[in-house]
Amino acid sequence: MSMRVCSPSQRLRLGVLVSGGGSNLQALLDRCAWDSSALAVSTVVSNVNGVRALDRAREHNVNSAVFEHAHRTREAFEGDVHAHLLAHAVEVVVLAGFMRILTAGFIARFPGRIVNVHPALLPSFPGTHAARQALAAGVKLTGCTVHIVDAGVDTGRILAQASVPVYAGDDEPRLQARIQIQEHRLLPEVLEAVARGEIDLDTRE
Ligand code: GRF
Repeated sequence: MSMRVCSPSQRLRLGVLVSGGGSNLQALLDRCAWDSSALAVSTVVSNVNGVRALDRAREHNVNSAVFEHAHRTREAFEGDVHAHLLAHAVEVVVLAGFMRILTAGFIARFPGRIVNVHPALLPSFPGTHAARQALAAGVKLTGCTVHIVDAGVDTGRILAQASVPVYAGDDEPRLQARIQIQEHRLLPEVLEAVARGEIDLDTRE
């Protein structure tokens, strides 16, 4: 099954999962404000209370929810998130700085419909601290990747990438900030292309 093709009056409904600052969420919210956008953030879900990303949702009058996982099984936590996303008719789940591994069971509930943004040119530097890994490896080019989430860690099909130079004297925060500028451009662009039917998520179960 292909994603349906959206018009501005019938936008692709996104559920954005966050854990922190939410600058990528902000980029999506800003894009949704464009008349020409084919995207709508239907709900924001955080696994951490009190994070800046939740303020950003509120500032844009977007529904949000917090599901904490302390003292709960993974299944119970993911069951709540799944029910919430269904209740908001979410079509594509976006991981935007969501710092929790999802089980294969949860991923199977949204086949091909979970998209992540990762701060490196995958398959290089998967996992955490990707900018730190790039600096340690001494590469002169890194970047960011938007990809489908599968049951591995940052192993799903790559949808798009943007490159970022590494300069002498870079430290992790400087490099991370340069990568994020590209993330904020690439993630909304890829999702718009999905909504327009130009990128096929291939959602066969
Ligand atoms: C981004 O750099 C993204 O690549 C990674 O987590 C970071 C989240 O940043 N997965 P923010 O919360 O969107 O500001």
